Amino acid sequence: MNPDRALSDGPVPAGLVIAVDGPAASGKGTIARALARHYGLPHLDTGLLYRAVALNLLQMGGDAASEFAAMRACDISQIDFADPELKSETVGGIASRISAYPLVRQALLERQKAFAAQAGGAVLDGRDIGTVIAPVADAKLFVTASPEVRARRRHDELKRLGMNVHYEDVLADIHARDERDTGRSTAPLVKADDAELLDTSDLDVHAAIAEAIRLVKRATALPCRGS
Ligand code: C5P
Repeated sequence: MNPDRALSDGPVPAGLVIAVDGPAASGKGTIARALARHYGLPHLDTGLLYRAVALNLLQMGGDAASEFAAMRACDISQIDFADPELKSETVGGIASRISAYPLVRQALLERQKAFAAQAGGAVLDGRDIGTVIAPVADAKLFVTASPEVRARRRHDELKRLGMNVHYEDVLADIHARDERDTGRSTAPLVKADDAELLDTSDLDVHAAIAEAIRLVKRATALPCRGS
């Protein structure tokens, strides 16, 4: 049994589904992984799927400005999900562009919905989990932080990876991604009405995880939706 489960007071609901959404570098990935460990659930980082399409497109020499080319890159069966290139800023930038295409979103939809619907429950993180992929999730978190805090975190992370980056460039990139993610017409980044807001601007990673667990507990203690 997962030792973290000992921390959880009260029974864990069977088939618990947790949706974690939020903008780039908000901490949603760290929080989603921690929740998955805590509840012993499988986790899907859906951003990685869009990044895989982006990397595939790059390797195929396709044009990110073409929705048709991006759609042709949606067969990601040959992509190695351990490839560090998936985490690069170049691939992230292309992912942010091609994720606005309805055909790309459609191509990745069923895989994500099936992951969310598995019998044992799941944790998914992304931009449209609580609104499109798992609209009846048991708990929904919308994780955010100020653009400056997110840019500082992303900058420090890239520096640690040995990349030569400037804070101002990272901040400009964060603003550009926010605009693309919130401004697109298909599945824009938006807080679901029934999602709990978790602002991590003034929280360290431990405090953010503790707060996420508290919010999930609170959400799952409520009566079932529709009852
Ligand atoms: O979360 P991450 O930064 O890895 O995601 C890469 C890009 O994929 C994001 O900029 C976003 O535009 C897109 N994305 C999305 N829907 C998701 C997950 C990611 O549009 N559910």
